[in-house]
Amino acid sequence: MSPDAKQGGHPWLLRIAEIFADKAEDITTDLEPLTHTRLGREYHLLNLRKPGQGLNTPFAPLIRWNMPVQHAWPCNPRSMDHFVERAAGGITNTFSAASPQALRVGQLDPGSRDPAFKTLARNLRGRLLQLLPTFPARTDIDSQDPDQPTLFCLLGKQGLFAGIQSPRLSHGFHPGGTKFIRRDAQTNISRAGAKIAEALHHMPLYHPVPPAGARWLELGASPGGMSSELLRRDYAVTAIDRATMDPKLHQHPGLQIISKDVSTYQPPAGSRFDALLCDMNGPVEQSFRQVIRLSTWLQPHSPIVFTLKGHGTTLPQELVSLAKRVESLAKHAGLQLLATRHLSYNRWELTLFLTNGESAK
Ligand SMILES: C[S@@+](CC[C@H](N)C(=O)[O-])C[C@H]1O[C@@H](n2cnc3c(N)ncnc32)[C@H](O)[C@@H]1O
Repeated sequence: MSPDAKQGGHPWLLRIAEIFADKAEDITTDLEPLTHTRLGREYHLLNLRKPGQGLNTPFAPLIRWNMPVQHAWPCNPRSMDHFVERAAGGITNTFSAASPQALRVGQLDPGSRDPAFKTLARNLRGRLLQLLPTFPARTDIDSQDPDQPTLFCLLGKQGLFAGIQSPRLSHGFHPGGTKFIRRDAQTNISRAGAKIAEALHHMPLYHPVPPAGARWLELGASPGGMSSELLRRDYAVTAIDRATMDPKLHQHPGLQIISKDVSTYQPPAGSRFDALLCDMNGPVEQSFRQVIRLSTWLQPHSPIVFTLKGHGTTLPQELVSLAKRVESLAKHAGLQLLATRHLSYNRWELTLFLTNGESAK
């Protein structure tokens, strides 16, 4: 049995973005929780009626991150004497026989301005690295194998929660799933830049990340936040938008700007792209039809990243239904859906990861 298949019977820790907070009960209802305890702004501790079913719910795309809780210590870490030593001892007892690939320790409230929990998390990680056997991927977070189990620990004013699960099943390499994206003033052209940076961080969970030099076709590129993130990774970008791109990008040698409506764009004969990104606003299914049309210029097995804007929907059910309609369009067009996720830098929107599989023009 895989390490991930043994989790039945444990409570489950779910993270649901604050934007869906008042609908968290609806989002978790299909999991038939026996108990549901909120832990801070985004975390939920559930005792499940059917613990083995994992996240088998239509609302799974809205559950940002999840972990079986194999070790819990409800306490106030800040006022607990010798918290780090005692917490490390408890975790070591529970997980001494396990051999996770990596140890990741984080905070239950990542937005907290209180530095105490950050310090406790860092100290707990340091002590655990001394006590538990060596972790192969201990230094570089991006070197984790998506399918090998990682020991995740989260702490906050509600206590300490730890569990082992693969990053793929947890939906992220970090505890809670969020990778902090550093924004520098020079390249920070729009908020959208963080969305593609985060999508590229998550992509190895579903698909190999294109190597430097790969050619991206980008639909809905203006003003260029995502383009600049792609360019700084040494990709070549064909950026299409009817609106103008930020002047900072105009002379970039890796960027071809095409100022027109995407529906009228026809790649020149013989063109080939290695990846496609769409962040167009406007009617979602219309935008996705352009993705389908232009995906025929992709090399086989290219990744496609589609930001599904939730404009016009007000309930999580409506957002999920819209995603289902797009997923159905993808299926009929022969595109393979890899994942539909609500990432940290998404607001009322979802990020779809797809691939064109074998098909190429
Ligand atoms: C959310 S913005 C894109 C932000 C951009 N990805 C960035 O990184 O800064 C959506 C863009 O889609 C463009 N758009 C929507 N429909 C379009 C169409 N049919 N043809 C061309 N551009 C379109 C809009 O002009 C707008 O600039």
